[in-house]
Parts: sequence; structure tokens; C-alpha cells
Amino acid sequence: MKRVDDFRLKFGKKEIVPIIVGGMGVDISSAELALETARLGGIGHISDAMVNDVSDRRFDTSFVKDKTKLYKANINNSDKSGVKFDLDVLAEATRRHVGSTMEAKKGDGLIFVNCMEKLTMNGPRETLQVRMASALDAGIDGITLSAGLHLGSFGLISDHPRFRDAKLGIIVSSVRALQLFLRKNARLDRKPDYVIVEGPLAGGHLGFGLDWEQYDLATIIAEVIKYVKDEQLDIPVIAAGGIFTGSDAVSFLESGSAAVQVATRFTVANECGLPTNVKQDYFTASEADIVVNTISPTGYPMRMLKGSPAIGDGIRPNCESYGYLLDGNGNCAYITAYNRELALHPDGKNISVQDKTCLCTQMRNFKLWTCGHYTYRLKDTTRRNADGSYQTLSAEHIFKDYQFSVDHQIALPA
Ligand SMILES: Cc1cc2nc3c(=O)[nH]c(=O)nc-3n(C[C@H](O)[C@H](O)[C@H](O)COP(=O)(O)O)c2cc1C
Repeated sequence: MKRVDDFRLKFGKKEIVPIIVGGMGVDISSAELALETARLGGIGHISDAMVNDVSDRRFDTSFVKDKTKLYKANINNSDKSGVKFDLDVLAEATRRHVGSTMEAKKGDGLIFVNCMEKLTMNGPRETLQVRMASALDAGIDGITLSAGLHLGSFGLISDHPRFRDAKLGIIVSSVRALQLFLRKNARLDRKPDYVIVEGPLAGGHLGFGLDWEQYDLATIIAEVIKYVKDEQLDIPVIAAGGIFTGSDAVSFLESGSAAVQVATRFTVANECGLPTNVKQDYFTASEADIVVNTISPTGYPMRMLKGSPAIGDGIRPNCESYGYLLDGNGNCAYITAYNRELALHPDGKNISVQDKTCLCTQMRNFKLWTCGHYTYRLKDTTRRNADGSYQTLSAEHIFKDYQFSVDHQIALPA
């Protein structure tokens, strides 16, 4: 009976344990989690979502405070088009976050950064260009492009000295999205180094509509593998979404996936950035507590615990401090929804917005508990403490369980 450890992901001469811990913003896939994954020989991700805020928390910088001060006069103005990111600050925050992580890296694995296109930051092209270029400057091993089709993203960094040596990959949820990406980038003569196929059971934003239940990862990945083979492309295809045990992973590796990307099991790792009390909510969740809804202003459905305090909350948009979801014209679907409710309650009291959420503020404050479909199985991966709470696990324990387990067994902590 095979184990994940019988397989390796080959990147040139490098052989990697084929376990990738996926990016989880905002700072849920923390540097500590990525560093442990790399130390154990796999691939860890940090995320550059809300990187100015992450830098403030990690390094005591004051980027968010400075931005709030600069745009203070605009706070009660519904027009946010003038609220811009300072590109030098964005570059510095990214370089600090990525650079300090890479300096601490040990072991044979790699660390990538997850870069979501939907973080349009009131200047989609220039901010994405700065994010990717600064991560490359700071020595990141690779960039995983996500939450968007990224048709122009390679072009934004094609003159960077590391464009051809860093690992660059993309997350897709259909063969069509991959075809589009390859077609749009054909002129650059630079293929992605890996393609992650994310199915409908993943956490975070989904590349499917509310009919996500109609799709399944095994079918989509078989289509992508066939396409890559037919086109004689030498690109590793990686399966993601709902891979909960080592045996789940082996079944994908045996049918042609080069590696698996996982996340949900690591949300209850000690090294994961979620607050301790939120990890307990993940443990206690039942299947009925996990919903897919459309409250994210990105336009993508998102999976989350239905008890997330963010749902129905009506806080004032915080774009002067954050503003990561402002489109190129300074709009965000939450601002529109909030203003509609404000018009009904002009005193500003008792505002509840049901259809959208202020994603930046809520994710930053860990009030929106995005999670994978199998979060309700996390309770089966650990033991309970005397007080009834669940024991969080070391990332090493979870990683090795994926790497060595057979027969769908899940090793409990000692
Ligand atoms: C809490 C959480 C947050 C996530 N955030 C992101 C994100 O910011 N960007 C992204 O591309 N994927 C995100 N994902 C998706 C994961 O990187 C991963 O591909 C997927 O969840 C794997 O499936 P699994 O959770 O069933 O193992 C997130 C997943 C979880 C559980």
C-alpha cells in the first residue's frame, strides 16, 4: 500500500515531498506555518493579502496608521476613488514580510507567496506588479497566482531578472481557465512551472458558482492532466480541495497529480495564524455549520462557518485604512450595500448588511471564518483536553500524517 512519501514532486533537479500547504490570507498561513512546511521538505505558502497590515503586526511598522491619517478627511465620503496605496510602502511591506520569512528558512522545501488578483487595491495593475516584483526581490522561491484569471500577470514581471528562474504557478478550477492563461501568455515563451487545480471543496473563495456541488475535483483534474499531455506540456498538475487524509492524497498522486495542495487540516495547527478561540470553533463545527455564500465583495462565492460574526455586520467601510478590494475606480460592492442600508438608517445606528461583508476589516479581525468543506472532520484529528476543548496540533504532526499514513487513518497526537 503506497504512502505519499513514495512520491516526489520534481522541479528540475530538486525533489520535494509532494505536500503543499496552500496560501491562506490574511496571515492564516503564517510565516511560521510556511517555515515548518519547508523544513519538513514540502512547499509552504505565505500570503501577501493585506501585507501592509501584516507588516505592522509582524514588524511594528505603522503603514496602516499612516494611511488612515493621510485619508482621514475622506472617512465619511462614499467616494473612495482618491484612496490610493503608496507603491513604495507596498513594496517595503512586501519585502519585509517575504524577506524575513526567507531569511529564516531551513530545510529542503520551498516557500511560495499566494497572490490574489482580486485584491485590486484601487490600482489593479500597478499594485499587482509591485507585489510580485517585491516578493521576487526579497527572494521568494515562487509565486502562486490565485483568485483571478491572471491573464496579464506574467507580463507585469516579464522584465524582472528572476522571471525565468523563480517558480511561477497558477490556480485554476477548469481546463478552460488554464487554456485561456496559456493562450494569453504565449508570446512570453514562459510556461507556468506548476498548475494547481482547485476543486469545489476548498476553503476561501471558490472558482465555481453556487452550483459548486455539481463539480468534482477528480473529473476536473483528469481533464487538465489530459490537456497538458495532449499539448505535450511538461507542467506538474497539483490537486487541491477536500484532500483530508494521506490516502486521499495517494489516490490523486496515483492518477497523475504531481502533488497535492492542502489547507483545512492545517487551520488547527499551532503555527497557523488563526486565534486560539477561532481554532476551537473550527473543531466544533458540524457539517450544517459550513456554508457557501456570496457575501464576499470579490464576486466569488466563499465558504465559511455560518456563525462568523462578520455575517450581517454593518460596520462602516474602512477603505481609508485598508481598501484592498477597491476596484480600479474606487468601488467595492460592500460600500454600495452599506450606503443602501445607511440611506434607510440615516442615524447610522443598527445597520446590518446581509448581502455583502467588509471583507478587509472582517478578515483582518478574524471575524470571517473561511474554511474548507471538511472542517467538520477536524474534531476527528485530535484529542480533547480535560476542559473539553480540543488539542491543537503541531504542523509537523499534520504534515507527517499526510506523508506517512495509510488506509485513511489519521494519527492522533500523543
Ligand atoms: C482558512 C482558509 C483560507 C484560505 N485562503 C486562501 C487565500 O487567501 N488564497 C487562496 O488562493 N486560497 C485560499 N484558500 C484555499 C487553500 O489555499 C487550498 O487551496 C484549499 O483550501 C485546499 O483544500 P482543503 O482546505 O480542503 O485542504 C484558503 C483555505 C482556507 C481553509
